[in-house]
Amino acid sequence: MTERILITGSNRGIGLALVKEYLKRGANVIAACRKPDAANDLNQLKAANSDSLTIVQLDISNEESISNAAQSISEQFNSLDVLINNAGINSTVPEARNLGQLTNEGMGQVVVTNAIAPVIVTQALMNLLRQGTNPRMVMVSSRMGSVTHAGGNAIAYRMSKAAMNMAAKVLSQQMNGITVITTHPGHVATDMGGASAPVTPAQSAAGLADVIDGLIPQQTGKFYNYTGEEIPW
Ligand SMILES: NC(=O)c1ccc[n+]([C@@H]2O[C@H](COP(=O)([O-])OP(=O)(O)OC[C@H]3O[C@@H](n4cnc5c(N)ncnc54)[C@H](OP(=O)(O)O)[C@@H]3O)[C@@H](O)[C@H]2O)c1
Repeated sequence: MTERILITGSNRGIGLALVKEYLKRGANVIAACRKPDAANDLNQLKAANSDSLTIVQLDISNEESISNAAQSISEQFNSLDVLINNAGINSTVPEARNLGQLTNEGMGQVVVTNAIAPVIVTQALMNLLRQGTNPRMVMVSSRMGSVTHAGGNAIAYRMSKAAMNMAAKVLSQQMNGITVITTHPGHVATDMGGASAPVTPAQSAAGLADVIDGLIPQQTGKFYNYTGEEIPW
């Protein structure tokens, strides 16, 4: 059976690599991004995969955009098997990083985008997921959100990913019948990860897809590296 998979933040980086990986695996992909008209790579993929790729507008930090996207998706499809909450930011402004200069606004933007928005997106798509086969919801988080591994930098980003991980744990217990995990995609050579990062977007996407494709309900509420090992909270 062809799986239907929705990926947020899919116009570049790990999200775009996930779109390519899942098209390669024969899935039906819904690629969500902020600006579909400017998403050149996605539009090129669409031209070559018109039956299996749908592009939808979704700004995850805008609730109206979330509800419009959910409406449009449910008009076109009656189920969703996998939701990948990939979109995220890592603010480099001092207001989000430097003790002494931190502000509500600087830190809040990171926490809203990385931790709160994925929960609101999940809430909006939960009923469609419930109609899916072996439904799964996956957070693309970070090892930087592990309290065990916490280092002394990027306070807002680390807090946001720790909160994202907690959201996954709580949702794994609230969303009966849906397998929920949180993941670390590796240190990946994207705009966020930097050009010298050791893992390519394609390697990260293939690893994440292997983890997601092999998920069984007993794995709900866990934190996985893209290579498949569990990561301590
Ligand atoms: N790269 C790494 O080494 C690494 C490591 C650990 C975790 N991660 C996580 O992996 C995920 C993907 O990261 P990446 O490396 O691919 O980053 P990236 O290259 O910076 O891409 C980020 C993606 O998220 C989208 N996005 C940001 N804010 C959004 C919003 N409000 N609504 C919708 N889309 C939004 C961006 O869209 P626009 O193009 O419209 O801005 C872009 O598509 C993130 O959650 C990140 O925290 C990355």
